[in-house]
Amino acid sequence: MKDNTHLYAIARSLLTPGKGILAADQSASTMNKQLAEIGAQQDAETRRQYRQVLFTTPGLQDYVTGVILYDATIRNCTDDDTPFVDLLISKGIVPIIKVDGSTIDHNGFPGEVVTQGMDNLGERLAEYYNMGARAAKWRAVFTIGPDYPSEQNIVYDCVMLARYAQLCHENGIVPIVEPEVIFKGNHDIGRAEAVTTQVLQKMFELLVWYKVDLKAVILKSSFVLAGSDASAQSTPEEVGAATVRTFENTVPHDIPGIVFLSGGQTPERATANLDAVADIEKSRGNLPWQFAFSYSRGLEDPVQKAWQGKKENVPAAQEALIKRLRLNTTADTGEYTPEME
Ligand code: 13P
Repeated sequence: MKDNTHLYAIARSLLTPGKGILAADQSASTMNKQLAEIGAQQDAETRRQYRQVLFTTPGLQDYVTGVILYDATIRNCTDDDTPFVDLLISKGIVPIIKVDGSTIDHNGFPGEVVTQGMDNLGERLAEYYNMGARAAKWRAVFTIGPDYPSEQNIVYDCVMLARYAQLCHENGIVPIVEPEVIFKGNHDIGRAEAVTTQVLQKMFELLVWYKVDLKAVILKSSFVLAGSDASAQSTPEEVGAATVRTFENTVPHDIPGIVFLSGGQTPERATANLDAVADIEKSRGNLPWQFAFSYSRGLEDPVQKAWQGKKENVPAAQEALIKRLRLNTTADTGEYTPEME
């Protein structure tokens, strides 16, 4: 196997205890929907201004090890023409690049989608490396329905994740593999656990089969919880127990860390669930992985509401970001209580 010592060091720095990752990699169309919700203009310049609000937040580096960027964002600059990547690196923050494309229907498998973006991936990773990226993200999507995800869908998307990870390593980049099990639905927590277990087992089987060095891979996972439309919603204690049990049954100990997506939960709920996982980690004291947050909506919803696309609201928006980051780093040590909100 190749010497991946440099990749282990990058993974370790992304998993620095007490810090997390800010996912600012919304695609242009997702970002536009979020801008529409706050009544802001939906164009490239407003999207750039929004990312500038995030990245120029004073003290960002005290809470954040890495920022996930979208292709357009990694090419953007601040008002004074400093590339965002240079700004982040100057703060000691690792630029991470989302490299998957959008999802499309999986023909013949109603309700299921597959992730696009494999074309020229090696060349694109080399370009992103030269721009300063040292980690990447690829998201596969698994929706829970009565008779899916299918094994065909799981295998297809997990092969893509393995190929992506190989190409990242080839190009000096740490792959964050994100098999997202979708929160939306009316499934119970038991079904979420069964599906997440099936997906993670297959993904790691394939990563190993394709000879991916797991010590240089970070897992980005959903929490295990009942669907958003389920009649019985999961408590943080239930989520913590099911999530940790799922990882213990599926995630190899070579994986250095697991970071969470918020997946459409409220910011408060995503924080409480991270705290519940940390509580179990504390009481066990022997889990092999570092845990951290890697939220987009879970960190940014309050920022967008405070900002509303207006210059005069920038300080309030940045304050809202720091508040969410502080609460999540507190949760990462199992010391969060809802009263802190
Ligand atoms: P959310 O935290 O909004 O789920 O986004 C995280 C992410 O990176 C999704 O790919």
